[in-house]
Amino acid sequence: MTTTIALITGANKGIGFETARLLGARGATVLVGARDGEQGRRAESALAEHGVDARFVALDVTDQESVRRAAERVRAEFGHLDILVNNAGIARADGDWLASESTPETMREVYETNVFGVVAVTNAMLPLLRAAPAARIVNVSSEVGSIGSLTDPDNPMSGLPSSLPYPSSKTALNMVTVQYARELGDTPIKVNAANPGYCATDLNGHSGTRTAEQGAGVSVHLATLGEDGPSGRLWGHLAASDDPAAEGTLPW
Ligand SMILES: NC(=O)c1ccc[n+]([C@@H]2O[C@H](COP(=O)([O-])OP(=O)(O)OC[C@H]3O[C@@H](n4cnc5c(N)ncnc54)[C@H](OP(=O)(O)O)[C@@H]3O)[C@@H](O)[C@H]2O)c1
Repeated sequence: MTTTIALITGANKGIGFETARLLGARGATVLVGARDGEQGRRAESALAEHGVDARFVALDVTDQESVRRAAERVRAEFGHLDILVNNAGIARADGDWLASESTPETMREVYETNVFGVVAVTNAMLPLLRAAPAARIVNVSSEVGSIGSLTDPDNPMSGLPSSLPYPSSKTALNMVTVQYARELGDTPIKVNAANPGYCATDLNGHSGTRTAEQGAGVSVHLATLGEDGPSGRLWGHLAASDDPAAEGTLPW
């Protein structure tokens, strides 16, 4: 039996680290993408202590040369990639997080990681994903990027402040997901966007109400979908449900 090879970007902490841990616990060899060598190696060691076959891979998703080198390393060592989790993400805002206070500079900074980084990594890894029997691509998005949820008065997300850079970057990521899913529709590759829900991580000063492990569970679900699973969906935690653990397909 061949081992599943999974690359998770931004896997040195938070939801990415937990995704690596959970996929590793299922027997995958996890490639721990991290832009900082020290943090990447620390995560690799911590995962090894959990019994995971983890390998640190230097990867800054905003640096094209770093992305190229990471893809070359995966090609040279494994020749294919079964799972790509585009997890790396940043949240920035100006002033009091209002749309009217947002600057193009902050928008560009956030899009570099959350949107352009995903495209760079996906395109670099695509030949390796195509070389796998049935690869899965998971783009870690957010319900704050769902136009449907934010414009639904019955959804608690509609009460959020009108922030621009981060939510709109996830909206763009949702369309990126749909377009890859459409292009790859006649291949065994499935491409989906994950909504981890509001998880306590460094991204939000640990104010989230869910655990990073719960958020990672969403990515793992989409990364391990069977042949009959969907492609081109936004799936995960449902803020509008009365059940705090509810998961399912979200509106775009
Ligand atoms: N937490 C939530 O409530 C929540 C909700 C919805 C969606 N999400 C999404 O979940 C994903 C993971 O976030 P998190 O909550 O786990 O946040 P986190 O703890 O801040 O982790 C973010 C990860 O992304 C990495 N990263 C940032 N820029 C990078 C770059 N240029 N290249 C490579 N890695 C980079 C970070 O690396 P460094 O340590 O080097 O900065 C870190 O490993 C993000 O896409 C986020 O938008 C989170």
